[in-house]
Amino acid sequence: MDADIQLEDARLEEAVTRWYANATVRNSPRIFVPANIASENIFPKSRQLLAGHQIVTSLGGDAVAYVLAQSTYKYMYEIGLLETRFVIDCSLKIVNGEIIAGVTEEDRREAITIVIDEGYHAYVALDFIIQLKKNSRIEPLSVPQTNGNLDAVHRGYASLPAALHAPYQLLATCLAEHTLTKDLLSIGREKEATRTFTQVMTDHVSDEGRHANYFARLVREHWATLGKATRERIGVFLPGYLDDYLAADFERRFDRAVLSQLQLSASEIDTVLQETNERYAASATDYIKVTRSNLVKLLERTGVLDEAAVRHAFVDHGLLTA
Ligand SMILES: [Fe+2]
Ligand SMILES: [Fe+2]
Repeated sequence: MDADIQLEDARLEEAVTRWYANATVRNSPRIFVPANIASENIFPKSRQLLAGHQIVTSLGGDAVAYVLAQSTYKYMYEIGLLETRFVIDCSLKIVNGEIIAGVTEEDRREAITIVIDEGYHAYVALDFIIQLKKNSRIEPLSVPQTNGNLDAVHRGYASLPAALHAPYQLLATCLAEHTLTKDLLSIGREKEATRTFTQVMTDHVSDEGRHANYFARLVREHWATLGKATRERIGVFLPGYLDDYLAADFERRFDRAVLSQLQLSASEIDTVLQETNERYAASATDYIKVTRSNLVKLLERTGVLDEAAVRHAFVDHGLLTA
């Protein structure tokens, strides 16, 4: 027992030391957006296929820069939304004891580091947007107030009874933090983007590993304290939730809206979309498959799949083998 307490003390101290040493809000200099974005790729072309299509490239460097700038705005605005409307909200509720009864002060302290980190990530994203607008004189096509992920989270609230919203919010945040960590790792590895963009991604992900571990531990500890009926009710809802949360925009509404701003005819727009669609759909489908399987492993590790009824629901949905 004494050895256990010592181990736990060491873990808590380590968490504090790591935050002081590594948190980007404490250590990272401001990131400056390049003055001339037409001379480099402000967003990885591999993540925005329109930018490499011959019809778009034939319009010149400014058109390509326009397309990549719009993808950057979308990406940065969505980071801000996720942080300010979702992760900070959940972390503040942990701090204030609204999600987990009897949360320790050490866990509250760590939740405050997440509020600070996420506030800083939202700051960096907005600073990037403001600089990009100023340097490029390109206005964002739209300023999103929500996205597919957040809409799915809200549909989850609507379909679960209010008494289950707290454990559901903790779990949904945990799933989102794991997804984001992997997404940032993978987009940060794209070779074709400018160093500035990659720097934002690698800075951000260096905080997210800590967050993902924190939320996974909280879910594992908290899930074991919930009643069987609660664990079952949320558990059987999860397979459908994962489908909804990870749904991709196969209609490509955003891409069509971006193309409509260029000097292109309706038939040229259709051609660009058609000729990039196979790659677009394949990478979206692959992303959903890989991410869903990572999240199922996370749910397994945190004990969320321990109930027989929950396992059955996952097997029925083809997410686990019997
Ligand atoms: Fe973040
Ligand atoms: Fe985070």
